[in-house]
Amino acid sequence: MSGKHKYTKRDNFSSKFGVIAAAVGSAVGLGNIWRFPYVAGENGGGAFLLIYLGFIIVLGIPLMLTELMIGRKAQLSIFGAFRRLAPGTPWSLVGLMGVVAAFMILSFYSVVAGWTLEYAYIALRNGFADKSPLEIREMYNGIVEAKWKPVILMFFFLITTAFIVRSGVKNGIERYTKMLMPLLLVIIILLNIRALSLDGATAGLVFLFNPDFTVINKDVVLEALGQAFFSLSLGMGVMATYGSYIKKGESLGQTAISVSIADSLIAILAGMAIFPAVFAFGIDPGDGPGLVFVTLPGIFNQMAGGYFFALIFFLLLVIAALTSAISLLEVTVAYFVEELRLTRKRATTVATVAMIALGFLCAFYDGVFDFFDSISANVLLPLGGLLLVVFVGWFLGREVVRQELEADGKVAKYFYVFVFVIKFIAPFAITIVFLHNLGLL
Ligand code: PHE
Repeated sequence: MSGKHKYTKRDNFSSKFGVIAAAVGSAVGLGNIWRFPYVAGENGGGAFLLIYLGFIIVLGIPLMLTELMIGRKAQLSIFGAFRRLAPGTPWSLVGLMGVVAAFMILSFYSVVAGWTLEYAYIALRNGFADKSPLEIREMYNGIVEAKWKPVILMFFFLITTAFIVRSGVKNGIERYTKMLMPLLLVIIILLNIRALSLDGATAGLVFLFNPDFTVINKDVVLEALGQAFFSLSLGMGVMATYGSYIKKGESLGQTAISVSIADSLIAILAGMAIFPAVFAFGIDPGDGPGLVFVTLPGIFNQMAGGYFFALIFFLLLVIAALTSAISLLEVTVAYFVEELRLTRKRATTVATVAMIALGFLCAFYDGVFDFFDSISANVLLPLGGLLLVVFVGWFLGREVVRQELEADGKVAKYFYVFVFVIKFIAPFAITIVFLHNLGLL
């Protein structure tokens, strides 16, 4: 291969499954197993789940397709994409918003990943064995309140992420997610089997699957929207960046659908493991960010081979968090490289140092943690998503969309529906949710 060729040809994912695995790697993470259950628990369970799934279908899948399309069309990450597709316009500011979101998310995300690391270590020492739910809660509180320990763990997690991003990500992502995500799925299914046979499990299932519409208020709707975007890694250009590595001829629509189904399935399975245990152990479903951490060890304790499964589960959770964190850091690094002309290594260092500083604040101050958590998911991502669909639906327009989808081989049957959704339904729906939440509607 000539040198020139080497620099101009963009790396591609090597197989269809590789593409899906990488996108699933970004989507599936703490968002499914930590954030989904706690946010669903705080927002009434079943009704939340229903609205959340509605948003995935109506907004999530079309937006994922939109992002994949922008990236593949431009063959650049999101910033470069805006500059190439809309030169001389302020559209690239949407990319900047993505960077701000990435900073916020990765800083609190790494703190939670740090707790997960500690849990893997406790599992290794068999430290959960024979502990009552109350003792497990005390353990969790001890970890979170220990301040310096979470900081050190967060630091360790971010450095590992940076190390992978620094040396280029695609091979790593593709190789690991292909093997590890299916394994994670198997353990969650085993957890389900045990959780569902706990005394009192039914109350948990009723909570998750029997919607009580009286609990719906403006916050529940916005939280469901935010969670849908957060969990699918949408609204900040992650999927656009991954789209730029997808070959022409792969079906973007199929990718968007498969990833969304896999992601929702894992979230629901996580909920089906956690809520039965929440009720069986007498925990409050609205317990907040600690919900998973005070619930799961109790299930493992009552499982045959629990020691072994707990250890593997928490390690896999760290890895699932890592593959999501990689995609978050990649957004910032790509921005620094493309816009500020830093080398990849320097860009990674600068971004990581800044994230460590923010992560430090999240570990020390609950207020910062909660603020970053909710502002990023409930404001920045949906706003980014809104601007992205408006960009493609109204600025790029239908013919460009058609051309890009023709690259899939043939223009898919869903073409008109898709255009209608991104032009009208999605912008309208997101705007309404925002206005309603602000009390303006
Ligand atoms: N989707 C990831 C998760 O569920 C988190 C994430 C959000 C990753 C936004 C990238 C962008 O854990």
